[in-house]
Amino acid sequence: MNKIIIENLSLQYADGTESLRNVSMDIQQNAVTVLFGPAGGGKSTLLRCLNRLNDLTEVKASGGRILLDGENILDPGLDVIALRRKVGMVFARPVPLPMSIRENLTYALELAGEKRKSKLDEAVERSLKLAAIWDEVKNRLDDPAIALSGGQQQRVCLARVIALQPEVILLDEPTSGLDPISTGKVEAALLELKKEYTVILVPHSVQQAGRTADYAAFFLQGELIEYSEGKAMFTTPKQKKTEDYIMGRFG
Ligand SMILES: Nc1ncnc2c1ncn2[C@@H]1O[C@H](COP(=O)(O)OP(=O)(O)O)[C@@H](O)[C@H]1O
Ligand SMILES: [Mg+2]
Repeated sequence: MNKIIIENLSLQYADGTESLRNVSMDIQQNAVTVLFGPAGGGKSTLLRCLNRLNDLTEVKASGGRILLDGENILDPGLDVIALRRKVGMVFARPVPLPMSIRENLTYALELAGEKRKSKLDEAVERSLKLAAIWDEVKNRLDDPAIALSGGQQQRVCLARVIALQPEVILLDEPTSGLDPISTGKVEAALLELKKEYTVILVPHSVQQAGRTADYAAFFLQGELIEYSEGKAMFTTPKQKKTEDYIMGRFG
């Protein structure tokens, strides 16, 4: 099922950079959709459009629509706070809150009015399990999150997003600073996550794209060059530019 439909999306930053040019693509629910390609292709810009983080940047011109469950999220009248609850995001560098591991997960829920300890405990356990870090931290939930390794912090950040029960999870090169073991754990978490959520990942390498993609979209300088099922993309790409990139001939 299509969770998100992107129609003719264009975006030009204030300095004139055309970061997205007429991009159209459908994004499936319960799948990992990977946006890959060389730096400057517009991947982060597209992720930021999906939860309206670009509202905070100077944008000169934009066009097109993004339908989430049929509703255009680019509509100026949209409730952006509600959108960001529905569409959570994990960034390249983990930034845990300066609190305990547990509080990192419960903070936003408490702000949203959840006071019942049983519900909070449940959310903590469930989200840490889904983020593939429960076993590593279950006996030290009251330690500061900052004391964890980078790979563990990143999974706590992922758990924090999960705790808010989003519908879509955006990840922008979430493993770019992580060792291979932590990277493997994050990738394993994606397999679990897609059972419940719509996952959109900007991978940090072509190899990671190949390992994780149910669907893959190749971006070059703001254009969507090719979009297909992951397997087809990484074995038999249709466009020469895609093939060159996958084979490591540029970027
Ligand atoms: N805030 C911004 N202001 C101006 N230009 C930007 C901004 N963010 C990104 N860009 C430019 O937009 C293009 C796409 O960037 P980005 O979306 O970050 O690509 P990617 O994530 O694929 O590397 C690049 O040319 C980049 O320099
Ligand atoms: Mg980027």
